[in-house]
Amino acid sequence: MRFEEEVRRRRTFAIISHPDAGKTTLTEKLLLYSGAIHLAGSVKAKRESRRTISDWMKIEQERGISVTSSVLRFEHGGSTLNLVDTPGHADFSEDTYRTLAAVDSAVMLMDHAKGVEPRTRKLFEVCRLRKLPVITFMNKLDRHGLHPLELVDQVSETLDLEVAPLNWPLGMGGDFRGVVDLRTREVIVYPGKGGGMRTTSHRLNWKEAESLVGSRIYKHVAEELELLEHAGHAYRHERFLSGDVSPLFWGSAMNDFGVEELLDYISCHAARPAPRETEDGERIAPEDERFTGFVFKIQANMNPRHRDGIAFMRVVSGKFERGMDAVIGRSGETLRLAKPHTFLGDERSLVDEAWPGDIVGLYNTGKLRVGDTLSTDGPIHFAGIPRFAPEHFGQLRLEDPLKRKALDAGLEQLSQEGVIQLFFTPGQGRQNPYLGAVGLLQFEVLKERLRSEYKLSVEFVKARFTRARWIGGTPQARDWLGSTRGYILVEDRHGHPVVLTDSDWNLSYALENAPGLELYEVEPL
Ligand code: G4P
Repeated sequence: MRFEEEVRRRRTFAIISHPDAGKTTLTEKLLLYSGAIHLAGSVKAKRESRRTISDWMKIEQERGISVTSSVLRFEHGGSTLNLVDTPGHADFSEDTYRTLAAVDSAVMLMDHAKGVEPRTRKLFEVCRLRKLPVITFMNKLDRHGLHPLELVDQVSETLDLEVAPLNWPLGMGGDFRGVVDLRTREVIVYPGKGGGMRTTSHRLNWKEAESLVGSRIYKHVAEELELLEHAGHAYRHERFLSGDVSPLFWGSAMNDFGVEELLDYISCHAARPAPRETEDGERIAPEDERFTGFVFKIQANMNPRHRDGIAFMRVVSGKFERGMDAVIGRSGETLRLAKPHTFLGDERSLVDEAWPGDIVGLYNTGKLRVGDTLSTDGPIHFAGIPRFAPEHFGQLRLEDPLKRKALDAGLEQLSQEGVIQLFFTPGQGRQNPYLGAVGLLQFEVLKERLRSEYKLSVEFVKARFTRARWIGGTPQARDWLGSTRGYILVEDRHGHPVVLTDSDWNLSYALENAPGLELYEVEPL
């Protein structure tokens, strides 16, 4: 059966990392090893050269960064891989979190000299929330880093995650000689700095490896392997798929080392397309014949003269066909999916069909919103993509106060698209909300879009808060927050109570002192 076969071979994943860990490099090398590109460097180069033509927003050009995520589709080892790329710049937005709603596994990439960094931790928490299987890749072995055993402990402790090394480094920095494949006890020899072309791995039996790596490293690693065995970091596939254990690989993306092993692992073992639950609790399996999908990202105004844009849709079930009619769950409207696209780097091409796990770019004339479900079987609502607690806050001051209504409409629309979160003061209706964003750049995107699409000139006034939490627990807890200095009570778009404050200390103090208080970093569904 072609349909089942297509589902079975899909692997949809994202790479999560702190800036500079090597995500761009690894992405490029994954494409290189899969044969999707022939010369490393071309993704980056293409990105640079096309930036001036294709970037859709002025601020992207001004800052020379890419605000939007792209999707790469390529083949390897009989599987079709969809790599959903997250924004690569140092600034950070809700887009990054939402991307993780569209994938079935994640590669957690770390610089082995740095270990778990703040951004890694945040993104990992989102993976955990979704019980996503996570594969860990320790990068930059050609440089000195933390002691491997210490690093394993650090990752397990800081992330409270069981880690199961599948290979183990033989030296590092100038002494880096390769890795031992812990499943076969073979040594994969590091050939030295790669020139960006495919390198064929040279394998040796562990017993033969001493002459290659030298007796000092050999003995040291032999001891480490024994310790590892005693520590019982065992890999079990079901526990990887349930998100309870993370297989760990070591390598050097820049020198192409370890990339092929990672790619083989992803194409063979990463999670297949998962079922998704509707708001009514129905589980829709990928093999379900009804076509369903959901929009996880909207890239608006690619052409500033038009209001169109691209809605990125993840196919959940059934076969997607170009030109098919689908119902938008939220509005009940029928939409013809006329010009679907797939992506490789910045290149887009029309697709005729797509299968569960695939990501399709749909032309959006404004009818689709983030979180929308599309289906050929009447309106369906998948459980929403949750929002995460913002860390930057402010309010807007309008240059022309008579345009308040237009501003309210603009904010409402842009908040639905996920550009910004709105928090309202209870009893004051929808006026003058606090704006919240996960990344500061979201405010600039907001200002720019209010200016170009709504002809509104606004000034952004930063607020002093840096923390927001959704409130649960007893009514007394909420009263305590309402009557204690340093805490502001607001409501989100659904009327859920939220507290704004300015430090972690304040949050801990509230948890200790407000009777029965519960605080959440993710919006309750
Ligand atoms: P990011 O997307 O996660 O931010 O990281 P990126 O790939 O841009 O890599 C960040 C820096 O780390 C780059 O150096 C890159 O070359 C380097 N890097 C990536 N993988 C390895 C590795 O395995 N070993 C070593 N030694 N370095 C690695 P850069 O100097 O910032 O940029 P570039 O001039 O090399 O492009």
